[in-house]
Amino acid sequence: MTSRVFSGIQPTGQITLGNYLGALKQFVALQDQADAYYCVVDMHAITMPQDPDQLKERIKDLASLYLAVGLNPEKSTLFVQSDVSAHSELGWILQCLVHMGELSRMTQFKEKGEGKEAVSAGLFTYPALMAADILLYQSHLVPVGEDQKQHLELTRDLAIRFNARFGDTFTIPEIMLLKQGARIMSLDDPNKKMSKSNPNPGSRIEMLDPPDVIRKKISRAVTDSDRFIRFDPEAKPAVSNLLTIFSLVTDQSIEDVVSAYDGKGYGDFKKELGEALVAHLTPIQTRYAEIRNSGEIERLLHLGAEKARATAATTMEAVRKNVGLGS
Ligand code: TYM
Repeated sequence: MTSRVFSGIQPTGQITLGNYLGALKQFVALQDQADAYYCVVDMHAITMPQDPDQLKERIKDLASLYLAVGLNPEKSTLFVQSDVSAHSELGWILQCLVHMGELSRMTQFKEKGEGKEAVSAGLFTYPALMAADILLYQSHLVPVGEDQKQHLELTRDLAIRFNARFGDTFTIPEIMLLKQGARIMSLDDPNKKMSKSNPNPGSRIEMLDPPDVIRKKISRAVTDSDRFIRFDPEAKPAVSNLLTIFSLVTDQSIEDVVSAYDGKGYGDFKKELGEALVAHLTPIQTRYAEIRNSGEIERLLHLGAEKARATAATTMEAVRKNVGLGS
């Protein structure tokens, strides 16, 4: 049996190099080996306030980026979460299974809610909706970055609890984390992950940053105190992060990159990293512009939603029956 893969990205802010190296790049690699479902999770986006017109555009922006990085709608099912109402339905049922204590322990909720006057109940129950996304498709594998690990563990716990209480219904999913790249750090502070919501745009490379912006951001990236190019995430977190990025965008091992810069300074290294990123991202940006302006996106997303709805309906039929819901 081919394995089923599921993952999603929120259509909020500009997609970063962290999202790409930790998640999107893996999505592309997996589409040839598995039956993959990739979702634009707009229902998760509204757990924080969003401007409706901007949200609509960002959904299409993200779907266009999915295609631009190499996802092929003939191989993968690409769709928007709110087009498949079963996500909300199963999300509610899982809210009735998850414990308040479990949700309170989620670090993402604590970080996103911190210092905010009003936090939506949806931000708190967010992991139940994420579990629904994954379990609806009987997913085996979920490629994500490290910040989603806790949510994945909760998803597994909920699947196990549901199956024990209501009979075998869900496949228990496995998390798929990269050894390198699961946590790309900020360019201005190697102790924080690279994030679309950081107020300093210099902290991240955005997938659609023009070449000169990429070069400038890399040249200003912080480095560590000595001048040696060495991979040591504990002692040299900033340079190790840049080495990880270099290795992933050029498909070389970290050791090869380190030995290529043996005896050279940070200046040369950063200059060539900037060029490597420009070379990697420019073709993606060119494809993105073609796709975003083609008017094809809506049609593709409708087809994807149809397929996703059919798969989700089979799971929901079993869920309703096993829980004892309906007339
Ligand atoms: P989101 O939209 O914040 O991020 C999308 C993906 O990018 C990964 N990521 C990173 N990876 C490496 N380094 C970084 N600095 C970095 N920043 C982000 C994230 O781990 C994620 O894989 N809750 C999810 C969306 C979601 C989902 C799902 C994912 C909803 N339902 C079901 C998988 C399965 C989120 O907010 O990701």
